[in-house]
Amino acid sequence: MRLLVTGGAGFIGANFVHATAQQRPDVEITVLDKLTYAGDRATLASVTEGSDPRVRLVEGDVADSALVQRLVGELADSDGPGAVVHFAAESHNDNSLHDPWPFVQTNLLGTYALLEAVREHGVRLHHVSTDEVYGDLPLADPSDDPERSKFTAETPYNPSSPYSATKAGSDLLVRAWVRSFGVQATISNCSNNYGPWQHVEKFIPRQVTNIIDGVRPKVYGAGTNVRDWIHVEDHNRAVWAVLQRGRIGETYLIGADGEANNLRVVRTLLELAGQDADAYDLVADRPGHDLRYAIDASLLRDELGWRPLHRDLRSGLKATLEWYRDNEAWWRPRKAATEAKYAQLGR
Ligand code: NAD
Ligand code: DAU
Repeated sequence: MRLLVTGGAGFIGANFVHATAQQRPDVEITVLDKLTYAGDRATLASVTEGSDPRVRLVEGDVADSALVQRLVGELADSDGPGAVVHFAAESHNDNSLHDPWPFVQTNLLGTYALLEAVREHGVRLHHVSTDEVYGDLPLADPSDDPERSKFTAETPYNPSSPYSATKAGSDLLVRAWVRSFGVQATISNCSNNYGPWQHVEKFIPRQVTNIIDGVRPKVYGAGTNVRDWIHVEDHNRAVWAVLQRGRIGETYLIGADGEANNLRVVRTLLELAGQDADAYDLVADRPGHDLRYAIDASLLRDELGWRPLHRDLRSGLKATLEWYRDNEAWWRPRKAATEAKYAQLGR
C-alpha cells in the first residue's frame, strides 16, 4: 500500500508516520509538508534520512494544486492500493485569533486542492478533523448525566474560532465532494491529543516545558474549561481503523473518555514533577474560549471495534513529562520564541 500523508512532519502526522513505518512493513509513505513553524524535518529524521527507503519527505504546500495533482497521480499510477491521509492544517486556536489568513489558505484551500486531485485520479482520502467543529458544550453540572451531553456525528456544526471554522468548512467540502462527485472519502473528528512531538505552543507541552524550566504553568481564565484528552497513538490507531474499514462518506468521532479540566491537568503535572500542585498562575483568558468538549465514540467502537490502549490520563501525562525531559534538544529551539509570543498577549 502507498500513502500520501499531508502534514506528516507535525505532531499527529509524525506520530502516524513513525507508527506506520514500525508496524506496517507493507506500507510506503510520501509525506507532503510545508515545514511551517509547526513542522520539523528533525521529527522525521530517523525514518527519512536514508534509514528507511519506504518513507520520503516532500517539502511543499498542500494548497499547491500542481504539486498535489502530481503526488496523488503517483499513487493512482502505482501498483496496489493507494490513499491520502490528510493531517496538514494550521492547528492552533490562539494563532487563528491573531492571523486567520493562513488558516483559510491551508485548511480550506489546501483541502480543496486535495479533493480536486483525488477526484481527478480516483484515489481514497481520509480527512483528519477536530471535535471543535461542533462548538462547545456547557460545563457539566455534577448532577447531570455526562452521557447526555457529548458530541455525536449528528451534533450541528457551530465552530467558535477561525481555526475551528476553517476545519468545519473543510469537512463540509469533503462531504460535498463525496455526494456530488462520488469521491471515496471518510472524515474523523477527534478530541484533544497529547503525547510526543507536540509543539510547545499547545497546553500540555507548554506547561511540561515550563515546569522543566522552573517556570510556573500558565492557565487561562479560571482553569475550569474541560478537554477530552486522548493519547496520539490511540487517535492514529483509530485513523487506521477508519482508513481500512470505515464506510465511505461516514464521519467517525474519536475520543477516549478522557475528560479533565485544565486545573486538574496542571495540578497533576506539577505533582508528577514533585512540585507544589498550586504553583501555577491564572492568566488572561482566550477570547471566545470553548468551555467543554466531550466525545461519544460509540460508532467507532461498535462498528470498527476500536478501543483506546491509553486509558489512564495520569500515567499518560507521566510518560509525556518523561518524553519532554528526554528530548529537550527537539523542543528547546522553539521554546523562547513561543513564550515571547505569549508574553505579548499577556498570557
Ligand atoms: P501541527 O500544527 O502539529 O502540524 C501540522 C503540520 O501541517 C505541520 O507539520 C505543518 O508544517 C504542516 N502544514 C501546515 N500548513 C501546511 C500546508 N499549507 N501544506 C503542507 N503542510 C502544512 O498539527 P497537529 O496537532 O498534528 O494536527 C494535525 C491534524 O489533526 C490537523 O488537521 C488538526 O486539525 C487535527 N486535529 C488535531 C488535534 C490535536 O489535539 N492536536 C485534535 C483533533 C484533530
Ligand atoms: O479538540 C481538538 C483540538 O484540540 C484540536 O483541533 C486543536 O488543533 C488543538 O490545538 C486542541 O485545541 P485546544 O484549543 O483545546 O488546545 P490548546 O492546547 O491550545 O488548549 C487546551 C486548553 O488549555 C484550552 O482550554 C486552553 C487552555 N490553555 C492553553 C494554553 C496554550 C491554557 O490554559 N494555558 C495555555 O497556556
